[in-house]
Amino acid sequence: MTTAFDPARVPHLNGPFAPVTAEVDVADLEVVGELPEALDGLYLRNGPNPRFTPVGSYLYPLDGDGMVHGVWLSGGRARYRNRFVRTEAMRAEERAGRALWGGLESLILPDAAQVGEELAGTFKPLPDINVVRHAGRLLALAESDCPYRLTPGLGTLGRETFGDRLPAGITAHPKTDPVTGELAAFCYALEPPYLTWSLIGPDGAVRRGPTPVEGVDAPRMIHDMALTERYLVLVLAPAFFTLDEALHGGSFLHWRPERGTRLALIPRDGGPVRWAEDEAFWLWHTVNAYERPGDGHVVLDYVQWPELSLGAARERHAAPGAAHGLTRAVIDPVAGTVRRTRLDDARVELPRIDDRALARPHDRLAVAAGGRGTCCPGSTTPCASTSWAARSGPR
Ligand SMILES: [Fe+2]
Repeated sequence: MTTAFDPARVPHLNGPFAPVTAEVDVADLEVVGELPEALDGLYLRNGPNPRFTPVGSYLYPLDGDGMVHGVWLSGGRARYRNRFVRTEAMRAEERAGRALWGGLESLILPDAAQVGEELAGTFKPLPDINVVRHAGRLLALAESDCPYRLTPGLGTLGRETFGDRLPAGITAHPKTDPVTGELAAFCYALEPPYLTWSLIGPDGAVRRGPTPVEGVDAPRMIHDMALTERYLVLVLAPAFFTLDEALHGGSFLHWRPERGTRLALIPRDGGPVRWAEDEAFWLWHTVNAYERPGDGHVVLDYVQWPELSLGAARERHAAPGAAHGLTRAVIDPVAGTVRRTRLDDARVELPRIDDRALARPHDRLAVAAGGRGTCCPGSTTPCASTSWAARSGPR
């Protein structure tokens, strides 16, 4: 258990990262400049935002309750609303008036006297990572757990299990095929099968899965995925869950570079998984993937990190092949080989493309970029200087 935890000394709970506790509505936001009349839509953002002062530990960016912020744009005007994603656990904490669950590193779980039989001893859901719309559903997403479904006004409807077909949940970063409307997802678990994948149709019904990924013999953390017209692309870095150690005061995650990073191409039609093995590297987020015209090799663009690092920043010397930066992996599905090349040296994260190009060749991307000390996971430097930059990328 983490001792001497002092929230005042946690950078991600202070300064520009200080939690927002108010839920507000602003009918007519001040507009600097001019909003195009034709711009009509909704911008949504989800992120960790503890409802009460955390206890035990706080591990950015995984800990923290979900809060969804929305900016509605229409007719040259903008309005704003933010709401917590009200899980059953948050409602229990609101009744108590304080945090009852500890952070991920402290494993403090309330008992039945505090929260009732149903929630006693359970882990706290943390749908604080992403928000997506699919099949008419607005979903606040957690790290491989059940999403929470929201109303159009950002109220919380409850856990989304997709008709009980996916009770273990899905990743926080599923991918929607813009042509077929299918949502592709994976879910990792601490117990066998450690990794499953699924496809959800444009009508919201599960079409395939959850299907175990053959050849996965231990629980690994996988944060994001990519999609091509034929494959789900998963990167299995050597970030292993070690719950037994965590229960005895150790860490719940271990980086084991000697195990290497494995790349999986999972055919969307259910065929055998193609594997490629590589030296260890970590990725939080993919840019996009696609099949290269001509040879069918899978191109995966992503932001590479030398290893998984949570919490406080540590300076390390990265191996030349695992340095931080925009990187391209080209996977030969037949030979089972992968070749990586560095696309850019800038310190960036949170890459996005135009979703209409997803799973097909893209020609540009946007990233969050900073100077020395960015707001990327692992940094303790506030991200006040972070800016958005558009970068052209080769196809
Ligand atoms: Fe993420």
